[in-house]
Amino acid sequence: MTVRPEDPRPRTLRPEDLRSRRWYGDSATAGSSGLRTFSHRARTRQLGYLPEEHLGKPVVAVLNTWSDINPCHVHLRERAQAVKRGVWQAGGFPLEFPVSTLSETFQKPTPMLYRNLLAMETEELLRSYPVDGAVLLGGCDKTTPALLMGAASAGLPAVFVPAGPMLPGHWRKEVLGSGTDMWKYWDQRRTGEIGDGELAELENGLARSPGHCMTMGTASTLTAAAEVLGMTMPGASSIPAVDSAHERMAAAAGARIVGMVWQDVTPSKILTREAYEDAVATVLALGGSTNAVIHLIAMAGRSGVTLTLDDFDRIARTVPVLANLRPGGAYLMEDFHFAGGLPGFLTRLTDVLHLDRPTAAHPTLRAQLEGALVHDDEVIRPRGRALAEEGGVAVLRGNLCPDGAVIKHIAAEPRLLRHTGPAYVFDDYRTLQRTIDDPALGITADHVLVLRNAGPQGGPGMPEYGMLPIPEYLLKEGVRDMVRISDARMSGTSYGACVLHVAPESHVGGPLALVRTGDTITLDVPARTLRLEVDDAELQRRRAAWTPPPQRWERGYGALYQEQITQADTGCDFAFLARPGKVPEPYAG
Ligand code: FES
Ligand code: MG
Repeated sequence: MTVRPEDPRPRTLRPEDLRSRRWYGDSATAGSSGLRTFSHRARTRQLGYLPEEHLGKPVVAVLNTWSDINPCHVHLRERAQAVKRGVWQAGGFPLEFPVSTLSETFQKPTPMLYRNLLAMETEELLRSYPVDGAVLLGGCDKTTPALLMGAASAGLPAVFVPAGPMLPGHWRKEVLGSGTDMWKYWDQRRTGEIGDGELAELENGLARSPGHCMTMGTASTLTAAAEVLGMTMPGASSIPAVDSAHERMAAAAGARIVGMVWQDVTPSKILTREAYEDAVATVLALGGSTNAVIHLIAMAGRSGVTLTLDDFDRIARTVPVLANLRPGGAYLMEDFHFAGGLPGFLTRLTDVLHLDRPTAAHPTLRAQLEGALVHDDEVIRPRGRALAEEGGVAVLRGNLCPDGAVIKHIAAEPRLLRHTGPAYVFDDYRTLQRTIDDPALGITADHVLVLRNAGPQGGPGMPEYGMLPIPEYLLKEGVRDMVRISDARMSGTSYGACVLHVAPESHVGGPLALVRTGDTITLDVPARTLRLEVDDAELQRRRAAWTPPPQRWERGYGALYQEQITQADTGCDFAFLARPGKVPEPYAG
């Protein structure tokens, strides 16, 4: 990793141009000027700082998603100290701001309900305080897009410090991956292949250290996206959370943000259409999480870039899958790191990347990748030995998903990619959980399992229900995959022939609401279609008989969510946050 806080771009800001000067006044006139600047300086003395420690220096907000409840971020309290060390040494003034933590494990019904809340908090904190630049600490699934969406809207220079993957899991002689192996062994527990004793051992071995999930799940996918977008230090996204290199990277990010403030390297200069196209290509070549589709569309929207599902499908056809990482492949993030990490990986995609665009750390992506190498062709495959010839996600259209749906086809059994079968419909996830194992339902391996009311409104928050469980009696017969369709999302560590993000969702009257058990459904991934084989007249009749479900929230954040949330194909941002428009700077006098 080439950490180079000193960047050759010209310094364009003078101390008198700093945004924070509106709060603190001019260093040359300390002791004079207005009542407010006097008060802000007096209160900074109260914080224990000398005038020369901060006046005339860029104020760097260190936004920290650390919390006792979030095992993926539990090391970030210490890491913020390394960021501050870097800021001080580069001549900046760091101030740490605790922000909301979104724990994929603990927050219910799903942290996706709160992604836009953290994005709002990020934007408004940066705007309302005397901040010149920001370092954003996050990594557990939704925190990465939330922080970057907020920073893009706030418009101040920002660097993202990814939390880093946890160490590989271990059980007896097995290496365990987050999520992926939990599902696998849970299925083995259901079939009686392992017992409670083994399960207790697995509980101790699945997650061995602080850090986010160490498969190419949603967290690793989104932090890799942040890196290729140009919002992190080079090579940052794969550094294991507890490696000393992680602390050094955090210090380097702290040092770099000070330079970025002086050079006025704002997110709008980095987060361009080219950057988002490169992020899409990278995520697909990594065989990354389907959640990235929603988040990248939302992030792009905040950057004034219109990214569509069709962009994903188009780019998917131009990039192969080269990362041999679970859940699709064999290895874990630590292996990826020592195989060359994202800089090494990107050297295998240079023909599709836009190499002349700027990043936080370098004037061009080309300069950022200078000297990057792949050290292990098994983990980062050469183009001639791709894991799949096309990127991992296909976008489907058809009368069941007029606004699109996605499938991670590389994680499905190939025989199911062209499949026609009878639907078995579940109206909600709880009913599914309660009844799926009952042989009396008559579900066969040929059935298409349909779950509705699991979308942005219906879930609510579009929970990761999309890998619908296979009935236990079919598991015992050796069935390991079935076609499953829902308006839900799926964990980045999940797998199977799961059609996700059906839009519009059933809760708002999408065609998924009209499917009945016994209808025929045809999935054809090569043709990119998903069809409900019911004629239009019958669908019209069913639509006329359909009544919208009652509103869920009468007050509170949920009511705002219900009113503002957009559908999956447009990124599930809030309409009032996604739309373009001016926001006035606060008056600081
Ligand atoms: Fe935090 Fe998986 S639970 S990244
Ligand atoms: Mg996840």
